[in-house]
Amino acid sequence: MANWRQKPESDKELWSLMAPVAGIVKWVKSRRGLVVGVGILKGGTGKSTSVLYLALYFARVLNLRVAVVDTDDNSQSISRWVATHTALGNNVPFELIVHPTKGADAIPLKKRLKSLKGQYDVVVVDLGGGDKETFIDLCAEARLLLMPSAPSGWETDRIQATLQTAARAAVLNPEGLDVYNFFVKCDFNSTLPEEEREAMAIDLSEEDEDFVPPPFLHPYFDISKAPHHIRSWNVMPRRSELEEWGLLVRHAMKGIIEEDAA
Ligand SMILES: Nc1ncnc2c1ncn2[C@@H]1O[C@H](COP(=O)(O)OP(=O)(O)O)[C@@H](O)[C@H]1O
Ligand SMILES: [Mg+2]
Repeated sequence: MANWRQKPESDKELWSLMAPVAGIVKWVKSRRGLVVGVGILKGGTGKSTSVLYLALYFARVLNLRVAVVDTDDNSQSISRWVATHTALGNNVPFELIVHPTKGADAIPLKKRLKSLKGQYDVVVVDLGGGDKETFIDLCAEARLLLMPSAPSGWETDRIQATLQTAARAAVLNPEGLDVYNFFVKCDFNSTLPEEEREAMAIDLSEEDEDFVPPPFLHPYFDISKAPHHIRSWNVMPRRSELEEWGLLVRHAMKGIIEEDAA
C-alpha cells in the first residue's frame, strides 16, 4: 500500500499499527459517542472531503450511527453535498447537523456536542475556515482531531498555529485529545510528502516556549489524490473507495483504544 510512509514489512507489523474493525465498534459502543474533529485553521485543505469519507466509512463499513456537524457558516460544503445527493435520490447514511456559529440560533459547539454524544455512535465535525472559538470547543470535546492538508507549504503553513491552539484547548479536555495530522491529495509517484514532512519537522521544532505539544500520533498514513475524491461532489463514493480511509481510522484508533485500556 503506497499510503504508508514506512511501509509495514509484515502482516504482524501491519496488525501492530492498526486496530481491528470489531475492536473499534466495540470500543465506540461501550461509551457515549466518539467525537472526531476535522480541523485546521485554514481553508481549502481538504477538511470537508475528509469529513465526508470518514462519515461514510463509519456509517457504511462499520454500521455505526453517524452525525456530521457542519460548522462552516461560509461555505457549508457538507450541507450542500447532502442537498445535492438527496436531490439525486442517493441514500445519505448519516445525519446532518447544521451548527451556526453566529446569529440568533448560535449555541456554543461544546453544548451541541454534549447532547449529540448521547444520540450517535460517532459525531464527525467539519470545522470551517478559521473560527477559533469553535475550534477550541472542538478540541475540548473531541477524542480525536484530524488535521488534513496537502503536502505543500501553502497548506501546512498554519499547522504550527493550529497545533498551538489545539494544545492549549486540549488541557480542558477530560477524555484527552489525540491529534493526527496527515496529508491528503498525495501523488505517491513524487517525493512531495517526504519533502513537506521534513520542512514541517523543522517548522515545528522552532516553537515558542509556551508551546505545549498535544499528544501526537505518528503520521504514518497519507490519503491519495485518486480522482473519485474530486468526483465525490456529485458521485457517491463506492465502498472500495473508502478503504484507505478505513486504514487511516484503524491506525488512529489503535493508540486511542490502547490508551484507554491502560
Ligand atoms: N484526497 C483528495 N484528493 C484529491 N482532491 C482532494 C482531496 N481532498 C480534497 N480535495 C480537493 O481539494 C479541494 C478542497 O477540498 P475541501 O474538502 O473543500 O477543503 P476544505 O473543506 O478544507 O475547504 C476540493 O477541490 C477537493 O475536491
Ligand atoms: Mg470545507
